[in-house]
Amino acid sequence: MAEFGRVPQIPDDEKGYELDLFCVPKHYEEDLDRVIIPHGLIMDRTERLARDIVRDMGGHHIVALCVLKGGYKFFSDLLDYIKALNQNCDKSVPLTVDFIRLKSYCNDQSTNSVKVIGGDELSTLTGKNVLIVEDIVETGRTMETLLSLLSECNPKMVKVVSLLVKRTPRGSGYRPDYMGFEVPDWFLVGYALDYNEYFRDLGHICILNEKAKVKYKV
Ligand code: IMP
Ligand code: MG
Repeated sequence: MAEFGRVPQIPDDEKGYELDLFCVPKHYEEDLDRVIIPHGLIMDRTERLARDIVRDMGGHHIVALCVLKGGYKFFSDLLDYIKALNQNCDKSVPLTVDFIRLKSYCNDQSTNSVKVIGGDELSTLTGKNVLIVEDIVETGRTMETLLSLLSECNPKMVKVVSLLVKRTPRGSGYRPDYMGFEVPDWFLVGYALDYNEYFRDLGHICILNEKAKVKYKV
């Protein structure tokens, strides 16, 4: 079973690292405050999540459902680790992939509506073991909406893995089955997490500065 609730905590007084101690794209140097989760640490934690998922879901065929766009980096790296386990263990899980595109954010604010704006018909997931792969859970509204849409299609099993979970008073109390890191109530970018589509092309998870929020505002 997954160890529910056990997740590395990034504390509220986390200082992270100064930008110039790591490599960040030149075009974002002026926009970022600090590196909060370096890319290598994301990879190390993802490797362990892959092991936990295979331990719990192993033996069944898994459909990994990537929540676009923010989930694409985590999805790709997580699946690489699951593939490596499949190649090197006695127990292996057949994997297929699916994609859904949801949108709920404008600037750094969650909006009340969660829109499905692309992807295959969810009805293809009927009777399947589905692993939803998400970048970050904040209020929980996106995931609760997706889970309720999915339940109409009667999948056999649904598990959710999210790289990040935010500690926020706006949270609905929803917790994913697997979590990479619990983070403070900050707006984070990088590793495919965006601010109005920018910063997906940044390897580390970082904090945006106030100037950048204005610069990239829509
Ligand atoms: P929720 O519906 O409030 O749980 O928000 C989840 C979605 O909002 C995630 O899938 C992200 O796409 C987006 N989101 C929430 N917090 C952040 C953040 O700090 N940076 C970038 N995107 C975020
Ligand atoms: Mg997302």
